Amino acid sequence: MRLCEALKEHTAYGYYPAHMPGHKGNPEYSFLGDIIKYDITEIDGLDNLHDAEGVILESEKHAASLYGVKESHFLVNGSTVGILAAILGVTVQGDKILIGRNCHRSVYNAAEINKLNVRYIYPRIMKDIGICCGIRGEEVDEILNDDPCIKAVIITSPTYEGISSDVSGIAEAAHKHGAVLIVDSAHGAHFGFHDRFPESAASQGADIIINSVHKTLPAPTQTALLHINDVNGVKVDKERVRKQLRIYQSSSPSYLLMAGIDNCIRIMEEHGKELFDRYLINLTDFEKRADKLKHLCVAGKRRFLEEYGIEDADPCKILICHRQFNNIKLYDILRSEYRIQPEMEADKYCLLIMTVMDTEEGFNRVINALECIDELVGNDATDFYCPEEQAEYGDGSYGRSINDILYGSRPVKIMDAYEAVEKKSENVYLEDSVGRISSSYINLYPPGIPVLVPGEEISRDMSEAIGRALNRGLKVRGITGNKEIKVHG
Ligand SMILES: Cc1ncc(COP(=O)(O)O)c(C=O)c1O
Repeated sequence: MRLCEALKEHTAYGYYPAHMPGHKGNPEYSFLGDIIKYDITEIDGLDNLHDAEGVILESEKHAASLYGVKESHFLVNGSTVGILAAILGVTVQGDKILIGRNCHRSVYNAAEINKLNVRYIYPRIMKDIGICCGIRGEEVDEILNDDPCIKAVIITSPTYEGISSDVSGIAEAAHKHGAVLIVDSAHGAHFGFHDRFPESAASQGADIIINSVHKTLPAPTQTALLHINDVNGVKVDKERVRKQLRIYQSSSPSYLLMAGIDNCIRIMEEHGKELFDRYLINLTDFEKRADKLKHLCVAGKRRFLEEYGIEDADPCKILICHRQFNNIKLYDILRSEYRIQPEMEADKYCLLIMTVMDTEEGFNRVINALECIDELVGNDATDFYCPEEQAEYGDGSYGRSINDILYGSRPVKIMDAYEAVEKKSENVYLEDSVGRISSSYINLYPPGIPVLVPGEEISRDMSEAIGRALNRGLKVRGITGNKEIKVHG
């Protein structure tokens, strides 16, 4: 029996809950109504996430079989906890690792916890728009040839914007040098289910893969999976990884979340094909209409792909920009005029995510709005440009993409982050920070990729680009009171 069934069966049986949680499944005052009764804890028959041997193990086996891996673990604290467990499970204090500079904050946190010596690999940037390209196998091979003591390689594929790396080439390079390949595939839980989507990182030979099922599949927020592949790769000490999961996951994992993962796996097993077929019809219609837009560029990825030699991108990430890469308030307009909440905005683009659970009506709503905006941009463009950018770049060029500067610069590393965070620090105004060493992580959120890491020198370009991002209203984490940055004292 699997978790979902066991949970339903237990709830229907009518036990009086003389146990945690304190809400007792009593709907009085519950904003979830009757659903609260399924929020149960580890009791007889419902297994234990940290030592799974019953219904949770059975459900995890289904997940492993669906993804074609040796073992899968349910995560109730997102890919974040999976990334921590994976890195801490394959390294010991002081090890050297190679990470894509565009990795999520959790990768940096793991490096800090284990006092790891970090070397970066910098993805190329699509300059016009400021998004990171994928990483190639040869690039990783070159670094590993130069630095044979690197123990693990960690990359993000696909990225937040849906750009995949050459995972099979990177796996080959890593394995040739005896390094473990961990792929943060938080955004790729839906890969491998249909040939219009890129192959999964697991099928391309990564050793540990982390998927946020909540991001692109029908599963509740916070749910994710950690897979261990064990095929032709470097041997991963599975018990060490499991131990890290026991350390970093709650000892009271939510059964609503775990049953949500189980249900998601079942949906993909039983209805995956029909869901993807329906989805592809909607997506194709959407793309056909998007291709006809005059001022907005939606299906632009195809052009970007060709220009930057990227093999694979995820069609579920709908990246919208102005054809001339002018800076427009698309995010605000979609929200305020059309009641469409995008996933994120950057200075030159806006990102929407459309998954297998979006209906034909949902797709139509989005493309109808984009068609209207496209027409309005053509009629009276001025309303659509960001004022602060116009003021700063009155020549109409609207400047170089903030993202391009932030993600494209390679700050000089003076010391590793774990050393820098221990040092005395002070807050200074951003404009006074040039030449100082950062004591904190600065990142745009989303996507939560650090543009500045503790221990790195702050350049003028970086300081100015952070200032511009703040003026532009982008969410910059790590800056105090919108103007101060923590630097070494
Ligand atoms: C690339 C990437 N990796 C990891 C994460 C963390 O995933 P989660 O929110 O499931 O913890 C995110 C979150 O947005 C992400 O964008």
